[in-house]
Amino acid sequence: MTIDEITTQSTVTRILALVVGWMLWAALPAAAAESIDARVTIEADKPGPRIDPNIYGQFVEHLGRGVYEGIWVGEDSHIPNVRGIRNDVVAALRRIHVPLVRWPGGCFAELYHWRDGIGARHERPRNVNSAWGDEPETNAFGTHEFMDFLEQIGAKAFLSVNVTTGTPGEARDWLQYMTEPADSALGRQRAANGHPQPYEVPFVGIGNETWGCGGNMTASYYADVYRLYASALRSPGRQLIASDANSDDYGWTETLLDKALYRHSRSFAESAQLAYVSRQAQINMMSIHFYTFSGNDWGKKSPAVAFSASEWATSMLRTSRTDEMIQRHSAILDKYDPERQVALSFSEWGTWWAKNDKQPSNLYQQNTLRDAVIAGLTLNIFQSHADRVRMANIAQTINVLQSMILTSGKQMVLTPTYHVFDLYKVHQGAALLPTNVATGDYTSGNVTLPAISVSASRKDNGPVHISLVNLDPDREAHVTLSLNGMKTRSASARVLTAAAMDAHNDFDAPDRLAPRELKEISIRGSNVNVRAPAKSIAVIELRP
Ligand code: AHR
Repeated sequence: MTIDEITTQSTVTRILALVVGWMLWAALPAAAAESIDARVTIEADKPGPRIDPNIYGQFVEHLGRGVYEGIWVGEDSHIPNVRGIRNDVVAALRRIHVPLVRWPGGCFAELYHWRDGIGARHERPRNVNSAWGDEPETNAFGTHEFMDFLEQIGAKAFLSVNVTTGTPGEARDWLQYMTEPADSALGRQRAANGHPQPYEVPFVGIGNETWGCGGNMTASYYADVYRLYASALRSPGRQLIASDANSDDYGWTETLLDKALYRHSRSFAESAQLAYVSRQAQINMMSIHFYTFSGNDWGKKSPAVAFSASEWATSMLRTSRTDEMIQRHSAILDKYDPERQVALSFSEWGTWWAKNDKQPSNLYQQNTLRDAVIAGLTLNIFQSHADRVRMANIAQTINVLQSMILTSGKQMVLTPTYHVFDLYKVHQGAALLPTNVATGDYTSGNVTLPAISVSASRKDNGPVHISLVNLDPDREAHVTLSLNGMKTRSASARVLTAAAMDAHNDFDAPDRLAPRELKEISIRGSNVNVRAPAKSIAVIELRP
């Protein structure tokens, strides 16, 4: 609604609307009338750090039907494809502006040998994927197919190299094969395999979960492994990402930064002579892996659907710990890297629900409104730390964990989480705006959290975008937005919500949950009033 429309309403209409509104309000049952009040103040003319589009990154692993069927169907498939890559999935991913994809794992990356995945497909070795229950691995989807997929969806590459069963030499060969000119030894091989033009690989992760499936290392041992690989893989324009701390393992971060951040000698005399070298950070990003399940116990996961109100609450609580984790890892980073050159990358995040007998493939799970609220909340938290969190990869894009897309043969379903990424894409590359939120709480059992979460951004002097999550499953929120430094002339919003906490899309009802226009938005003087339904994710656009 525009200001003009509001001001041209006749006085009579306004009085009538007030009387009718009061009558309706008075007639509401007590429980329904209860709502959350929130006041949000946004500084529209004080742009903060840029929200790195890479926090909207994806993660694809050879696991279940994430790659095979999810992306790769083969050139002879009856499922429409371009060079073996399914068209429906490509079109859907293009729409949400995927900036980058991490591949080939995960734990699978620690067993992966890139030479198995190049050359004529029928000659590639058939292996078993022992990271994931000995699933067959045909190697039909290898380096060239991955890069083709990226080109089709318009994303950049983030390779995770093998530090457990591989060597620094193998990793270096892989990167040379991909990025060197066609007249170099390895570049010639790439050209012979159909791609004379070098590929670009801007992001390289050195190992995956090296405290676990990636070598079962101590932080101190990994710090040396990191230094070794970094010296083999460093190249101008390439960002090196150190293997993750497991959630809140702050000791890992401390040890890693102490031992591997700078290329320095510990002897004072030497480091004084090598003053320049000693300040050269050799870690560009430090990763964190953090999954949401209900509560804090891996062994007691909530079902993906038909969960209880208490499981809703404990999953929100667990998700909200993302903020504390960023703050505490950042505090350690601040000590070693006060100039804030080193970024945090959440290279695996998302929901991990209980296994069930009906799931058609490994780590396949249904994705409900709860997943969408968790995605909205997490992305708001990442954005609030835009100065440090400069990459994230939700696990995993298709048919695995908190997916964007589910497939069943030739059918495809977009999940509620996909719709959140679609709504939030307006934030990519915009400046974070300082925001103050005063809100009532959401309380359930022992869980008490702020009921709403807000993040605001703006590109240059364009509209202000506000992502607003109401995580209370029962109460709507009456939110007053007050903008400093910009006069709002018109406003609109889209919202994703449903009546049931576990509402989801399925192959027989693919559009049950999709964003719709949020009509309960109005401009009142210098404020904008919004009614955010219970358990909803809204993105509001305020136009100057
Ligand atoms: O995303 C599934 C698995 O979770 C990854 O392979 C591993 O890195 C993590 O434990």
